[in-house]
Amino acid sequence: RTGARVERLPLARFTTLGVGGEAEVWSVASAAQLAEAMEQPYRVLGGGSNLVIADEGVPERVIRLAGPLAERDLTPDPGLSSADEIVTGWVGGGVPLPGLIRQLQKLGLSNLEGTVGIPAQVGGAVWMNAGTRYGEMFDGLHTIEIATPQGTVQVTPADLAWGYRDSGIPRNHVVTRVRLKLRRSTPEDVLAKMDFADQARKGQPKMKTPGCAFKNPGGVSAGRLIDEAGLKGTRIGNALIAPEHANFIVNLGGATAADVHALLDVIRGRVAVPLELEYELWP
Ligand code: FAD
Ligand code: EPU
Repeated sequence: RTGARVERLPLARFTTLGVGGEAEVWSVASAAQLAEAMEQPYRVLGGGSNLVIADEGVPERVIRLAGPLAERDLTPDPGLSSADEIVTGWVGGGVPLPGLIRQLQKLGLSNLEGTVGIPAQVGGAVWMNAGTRYGEMFDGLHTIEIATPQGTVQVTPADLAWGYRDSGIPRNHVVTRVRLKLRRSTPEDVLAKMDFADQARKGQPKMKTPGCAFKNPGGVSAGRLIDEAGLKGTRIGNALIAPEHANFIVNLGGATAADVHALLDVIRGRVAVPLELEYELWP
């Protein structure tokens, strides 16, 4: 009715792991299209960089943000900006984060460069407050617009109980767009910080993966714990615990969700400290 594009598609192609069966994909390009998509059970897809999707796919609608919901306006708001700090126009939840981070660097705008190398969309990165030890999404947010089944709201970080890898935004509330709060710096200074944060990625695998499997318990590297349990290089089917970093599971080609689930079970069975999953399993 609202003109949303609806297609049955394999989800594997929308994920960095490259695993996942079919679903009805709703590409929505307006608030009205999003509201229509949200009328039946749904899931929200961002950059697919934290997902392990079942080989059977999912029965719910899968919503992707497209068109204006994937566009950005980085013009400083004159009323809210000062000599030191700017507040941007709206940045869509569907905007790919890596390109945004590069663009902010060229503009000499700081606060988000610590998230360099995270292959998310803005909405997904905000929803789970993606970050590294050099910075996280909530370092650079002014306003967050969220579509809920009850309607659309605009909130500030102070309204949310956010923390490590957690925005406090309920599941299936959709981050439609945000306004960024950034510090005026120089392209050179931002680039130097980006390069520094990027050093921490040197030891991460370059293959198909959904990033770190488990959150770091109490600040201890889950990767180190899994490594110390002797699990690097463990292979089930075509999924492998990366030899480079034990908190990464990689797809050697043709891996299934079942392979990945089996590896997660092996890890849980062998690491004494209880680990909380960072991956999201669909369903
Ligand atoms: P998806 O994987 O598509 O979805 C993840 C969750 O977010 C789902 O619940 C989904 O419903 C929800 N979601 C997606 N879009 C929206 C939206 N618009 N509104 C509301 N909810 C939404 N993470 C880190 O934190 N730090 C890292 O350093 C890091 N490094 C990584 C490196 C690699 C190589 C890879 C593959 C992943 C890495 N990750 C890292 C994991 C991943 O990038 C983050 O978890 C990221 O936040 C996921 O965002 P996404 O847009 O891909 O979301
Ligand atoms: N380590 C090992 N063996 C391993 C992995 C790590 O001994 O297999 C050791 C390292 O040698 C180092 C320490 O553990 O001394 C920390 O490792 P690393 O620097 O790789 O950081 P991490 O804590 O394992 C976290 C994030 C990453 C983020 C990096 C860089 C989590 C779960 N992981 O990893 O985020 O990129 O720091 O900031 O918080 C993600 O969340 O998906 C993710 C990739």
